[in-house]
Amino acid sequence: MRNLPTLFFLTAAIFALLGMIWGIQMSATHDHTLSPAHGHLNLIGFVAMSIFGTYYALTPNAASSRLAVVHFAVTTTTVLTLTPGIVLAITEQSESLAQIGSVLAVATMVLFGYIVFRHGVGSANTTKYPDQNIQSHPAQ
Ligand code: HEM
Repeated sequence: MRNLPTLFFLTAAIFALLGMIWGIQMSATHDHTLSPAHGHLNLIGFVAMSIFGTYYALTPNAASSRLAVVHFAVTTTTVLTLTPGIVLAITEQSESLAQIGSVLAVATMVLFGYIVFRHGVGSANTTKYPDQNIQSHPAQ
């Protein structure tokens, strides 16, 4: 998908905003009980998604693959299951959703590793010296 990097970054910004609002709420109430869930929302939802978005912006071949769209769906689903899953686990209601989210988180990273292995990093058209104006020995 052409706009996949944009999709990753927009989703990352939404997750970051939600995570920050949650952080402010924790600070205001002095109740940090759910901070691990907040941490995972920010780290997978914002940090990992932004790194993935950067990779796809640098590597258009990977971004245009179907597997990259699957990668976006699995990453988003990971955040949407793992975050409430950790809340349920901390409040001792259920561990099932956290377990599902954990498996999805691993799947996200396995997919990312496979896509990087398959497509490498960077544009396929990039030559060793893409900018013809760069001089290897600039005049003093
Ligand atoms: C408005 C922004 C934010 C606020 C107000 C906020 C607030 C908090 C608070 C109050 C805690 C609990 C600290 C404690 O109990 O010791 C916490 C923990 C944490 N936050 Fe944030 N946070 C914000 C943004 C972020 C971002 C952007 C990230 C990551 C990119 C992040 C990652 C974490 C992590 C990893 C923890 C520790 C979780 C744990 O070990 O339980 N936070 N945050």
